[in-house]
Amino acid sequence: MNRLLTVSLSAILLFAGISLPAQEKPVPLSDSLYRSLAATPPMGWNSWNKFGCNVSEKLIKEMADAMAASGMADAGYEYIVIDDCWQVERDADGNIVPDPERFPSGMKALADYIHDLGLKFGVYSCAGSYTCQGRPGSKGHQFQDALQYAKWGVDFLKYDWCANDGQNARAAYQTMAEAIKASGRPILLSICEWGENKPWEWGEGIGHLWRVTPDIRAVYDGVFDWGGVGVLQCIDADADLYPYAGPGHWNDAEMLEVGNGELTWDENVTHFSMWCMLAAPLMSGNDLREMDFKTRQILTNKEVIAVNQDPLGRQGIRFLDMGDKEIWAKPLAGGEIAVCFMNRGETPWNLDYNWRDQTMYFAQEVNLRKWDYKVRDLWQHKDIGSTKDRLQAVIPAHGILMVRLSK
Ligand code: GLA
Repeated sequence: MNRLLTVSLSAILLFAGISLPAQEKPVPLSDSLYRSLAATPPMGWNSWNKFGCNVSEKLIKEMADAMAASGMADAGYEYIVIDDCWQVERDADGNIVPDPERFPSGMKALADYIHDLGLKFGVYSCAGSYTCQGRPGSKGHQFQDALQYAKWGVDFLKYDWCANDGQNARAAYQTMAEAIKASGRPILLSICEWGENKPWEWGEGIGHLWRVTPDIRAVYDGVFDWGGVGVLQCIDADADLYPYAGPGHWNDAEMLEVGNGELTWDENVTHFSMWCMLAAPLMSGNDLREMDFKTRQILTNKEVIAVNQDPLGRQGIRFLDMGDKEIWAKPLAGGEIAVCFMNRGETPWNLDYNWRDQTMYFAQEVNLRKWDYKVRDLWQHKDIGSTKDRLQAVIPAHGILMVRLSK
C-alpha cells in the first residue's frame, strides 16, 4: 500500500470515528536526550552481590518493597536491577525468555509493580553470545532485546562482556546504545567490561556508567585468584580516572558491598564515603529486607549522599598520598568542597592538620590559605570548626574522616 493510500484510508477512518491501532513503530530517542540521562550518579540496588543466581519475582518484589519502606528510596535510591540468571532461552522467534518458574507473572508485571512503588526497573544482559552464567546473551539480538525491554518497561540495562567472541568493545556497546535509542525508551546503559578496553576513553555518549574494576568482593583489601578484588583495589583502579567522569557519564567503581561479608563499621564507612567522593554509581548490594541499623545508617546518610549527587558532577581527587594516609578532595557546586582523610593503615592516625599548609589541587576554585571555610563532619552531622583552626582527630585503622567545607 503506498503512503498516499494509507494516509487517505486513515483520514476516512478518522472521519468515520474509527481509529487505527496504535502505531507499533517506536519514536527513536534523540542522541541529546539519551546523553542527558543520569545527570548525577545512578542510585539503586542490584541482586548480584548478595544473591547471585538466586533471583525470583518474589525476591525482587520484596526488595522493591523494602527499598520503598526502609528509607532507601527517600535517600535517593531508585533502580531495582535484576542481574544475571533471570533469562533461560530464546523462543522460536529469537525472543528472550525469562525463567517461567522464577518469574511466573512475567517481566512486564514485575516492572509495573516496581513502577507503582515510584521506583525504576533494571535488567542484565551481555554483549556476548552468553552471559557470565551461561544464559543467552544479546549478541545478534540487540535491537530485538532493546525493543523487548522497552515493552516491559525497563529503565536500566547492565550489559556484560562474557563470551564476547573477540568483538570490538566500543562497537559492541555502541550497537546496544543504538538499539536502546531505536526502542524509544530512556534506558540507562551500564557498560560492564571490567575496564579491560579503557571504556572511560570512549564510553561517553555510548553508556551512562562504565565499570573500571574487576568484580568486587566484601573485603577491605584483597585480590582473589579468580580476579575478584576488595574495596581498596576498586578505589585505586578509579583514582586516576577523575577527568573522565561528569554528568551523564560516570566511572563505575563496582556495586556496593556495604552490609555484606565481614566488613567492619569503619571499613563500611570508608567504602561508602569513598564511592561518594568518587562520584561513583551507588548500587547497594545487600539484603534490604533485613538491614541492621548500622548498615541503614551508612547507606542512607543524606549528607554523604549529597556529596555523591552534587550537581557539579566532579569526581574526587587523591590530592595527597602519604602511603597509608591519604587526603582526597571533591569540588562541589557553589565553591564548596568535600574532603576525606583516609587511613589505610593498621593503626590509628592522630591527625593534626593545618588547612593553611596546603592549597588543594584545584587551587583556582579553593584557596584554603586565603579564605575561611566552615568545617562540617558528615558522619557526626556536626560543625567542627573552621579552616582557620587546625583539624585534630583520631582516625581509626581502615577508617575515614569526611568533612564538607562551606564558606
Ligand atoms: C560478571 C559481572 C558481575 C555480575 C556477573 C553475573 O562477573 O562483572 O558484576 O554481573 O558477571 O554473572
